[in-house]
Amino acid sequence: MKKTWITFISVVVLSFITLIWIGTEVYQTQPPLPETVVVKETQEVLYTKADIQIGQNVWESIGGMEVGSIWGHGSYVAPDWTADWIHKEAVFMLDAWAKSDFNTTYENLNVEQKAAIKARLIQDVKTNTYNETDQSITISESRLAAIKENIKYYSSIFSEGHEEYAIPKGALVDPVKLEQLNAFLFWTSWAATTYRPGQDYTYTSNWPHEPLIDNTITKGSLVWSGLSVVLLLLFIGILTYYYLVNHEKGELLEKPNTDPLTNLKLYPSQKAILKYFVVISLLIALQVILGAATVHYTVEGQSFFGFDLSQYLPYSVTRTWHTQLAVFWIAATWLATGLFLAPMISGKEMKFQRFGINFLFGALLVIVLGSMFGEWLGIHQFFDLTTNFFFGHQGYEYMDLGRFWQIFLGIGLVLWVIMVSRHILFAIRKNDASKHLLTILLISVMAIGMFFFSGLMYGENSTLPVINYWRWWLVHLWVEGFFEVFATVIIAYIFSQMKIISAKTAGRVSIASASIFLAGGIIGTLHHLYYSGTPVQAIALGATFSALEVVPLTLMGFEIRENWNLLKSRPWMQKYKWPIFFFIAVAFWNFIGAGVFGFLINPPIALYYIQGLNTTAVHAHTALFGVYGMLGMGFILICLRFYSNRSWNNTKLKRAFWFLNIGLVAMVVLSLLPIGIIQAYTSITNGYSFAREADLLYSPTVQTLKWMRVIGDVIFSIGIFYFCWFTIDETIYNFKRKKALNHSPSEINGEKVKEPAAEKAEVSIL
Ligand code: HEM
Ligand SMILES: [Fe+2]
Repeated sequence: MKKTWITFISVVVLSFITLIWIGTEVYQTQPPLPETVVVKETQEVLYTKADIQIGQNVWESIGGMEVGSIWGHGSYVAPDWTADWIHKEAVFMLDAWAKSDFNTTYENLNVEQKAAIKARLIQDVKTNTYNETDQSITISESRLAAIKENIKYYSSIFSEGHEEYAIPKGALVDPVKLEQLNAFLFWTSWAATTYRPGQDYTYTSNWPHEPLIDNTITKGSLVWSGLSVVLLLLFIGILTYYYLVNHEKGELLEKPNTDPLTNLKLYPSQKAILKYFVVISLLIALQVILGAATVHYTVEGQSFFGFDLSQYLPYSVTRTWHTQLAVFWIAATWLATGLFLAPMISGKEMKFQRFGINFLFGALLVIVLGSMFGEWLGIHQFFDLTTNFFFGHQGYEYMDLGRFWQIFLGIGLVLWVIMVSRHILFAIRKNDASKHLLTILLISVMAIGMFFFSGLMYGENSTLPVINYWRWWLVHLWVEGFFEVFATVIIAYIFSQMKIISAKTAGRVSIASASIFLAGGIIGTLHHLYYSGTPVQAIALGATFSALEVVPLTLMGFEIRENWNLLKSRPWMQKYKWPIFFFIAVAFWNFIGAGVFGFLINPPIALYYIQGLNTTAVHAHTALFGVYGMLGMGFILICLRFYSNRSWNNTKLKRAFWFLNIGLVAMVVLSLLPIGIIQAYTSITNGYSFAREADLLYSPTVQTLKWMRVIGDVIFSIGIFYFCWFTIDETIYNFKRKKALNHSPSEINGEKVKEPAAEKAEVSIL
């Protein structure tokens, strides 16, 4: 065991040293924010540093990443503003020179003429004119003309609206703010076109792909992509070998003939958790409704079947709420599960636990509703920019909520960590066989709480590379690091309580798999930072280490088989059929959604062309819902299962399970993936900006594919409906008989409960 712990600690320490080292590089090598942008010929000052910085805040206030994207990070309906700006600037300049030199358009020039003009363009936009002494950037007059044209164009899009981009009229009308927004867009495109000092690639490692200015994939991206595939194969081989040799080595347990948890006595605080499940169900339902509205904007642009929804709930709001609710409800299931298990772990309930649970519940409601309302107010421009940062919309996907709400949530999480940890600590002090399992559980609980605070590491005026760095510390390190650990440990703990695996084996396996997950997962954070104004080391380290993340996911088939065998091993296990089914789904989607679709977009050569295309949506849905959504649902079901012994409504759960899974498959296979592939092809052949343009996204083929999504979405929604119905129904049932819960369940109301083993016949059908 000591060796296992040493490995775990070494992995974590070395990985964080590396990640922090890259962080220092991010700060030091980011594209400069100039004091002034000056026109070479006239010395006219086009922009100041303040224009660009405030412009970034303006962009955040209209929804930031929820309206199109910057450097490939964000939403998919409007263009990537960086790539779009660069393309428009290039086309304008080429045409202007073709006109002045040859009196025709660029398209009509012969090959030699084109080459000459293109070389002039590349020289003009790619040369680094940043002057360290006076911190100025110099641009040519030719470029100024193109910039002015862009300013006109983007100002009109945001003030007059743009149907195909789902931007409503009046999204931003203040002329000063429009100027500043343009300054920021210019700066992001400047960084993506300008060579790093002394190098032949841009600050964004040549992202986006833009043939007009020879922004093409770098050699580094190619080499590290190849190497990442080789490493993946190598480590799959090693891990499979290790698994096959070792997996039978755990202590073999004689599985009990009756359920050891049947007559579980519940504590008052556990009963107080029931209300969480109702609210979580409502949040799930709301998330799906908002998802439907969001996706509808991709086909109709402004309205919802003719009704002008965008005036009240524009795309930027529905998408913000849709993604944020996913995080909220999934996080809430984790909080509830941790709180439910806490007294079970320690064998006693500590002071104020119930009060804490009720308090946290109230706080969460205030945070969810308050932050959502703040985002609505922010996007509708009710706030000044600083108020918007604190109470409105921060503009960064998955962390959109205002800073005040973020801090409030952080305090809630600290409270949760304390309430859960003190029970775990108490149990660890007993020094029994579960000590190691509980220690790794404690670590993951504390890490979940702690890493939330990385979202507070940047401020209102931080630059984009710095914000993205810390944002992924939170989002990535949660989902691809400590959530995986927490999930593994919680399931292992529950199984050890059922006495189907020994606590000692559960502990050893959990620490070992935590080490494996974190060995790739921590440094793997850098796969989000290949092309974000971040140093090239991010490509090398991100590509190789995130490939390692996929290695354990390829073995998920074994996990599915083990869970399946477990279900069949004892008749009483049938009682836990549905939670275990959801855990099986977690393993399946971990393999497909995180493993296969994650790796699809993961090598730098892939992400270079397809960052922010529908292939990302494929991955996001199958990984975030497939893994953590299903896991949250499994957690709710397992907790609910402990409240009563009555047999469950199999029909509702069966429909929930199959409709959810089939719906998710249909959504991806019929719509998101084919659209992603069409976009990828366009991006590779024509350039990235074309893959995000309305001409492609509203072409008949893509429109048809978007409509095809309805099939998957409807099936999926039916699954959600049945899940919520079941959960609310079961919660109300338990709520009503709450007072009786701490008696042996079989005595409740004098009714003799039907043994769930009767459900067995139905399993074989599945
Ligand atoms: C259960 C685990 C995982 C979850 C919940 C998850 C979730 C997500 C989410 C929500 C995004 C952002 C999507 C967006 O911007 O719209 C994302 C992006 C990404 N994920 Fe994962 N992911 C998981 C595992 C993985 C794995 C194992 C890999 C590959 C090794 C991976 C590679 C990526 C990459 C490269 C991106 C960036 C895509 C882009 O910027 O376009 N993910 N992931
Ligand atoms: Fe990631």
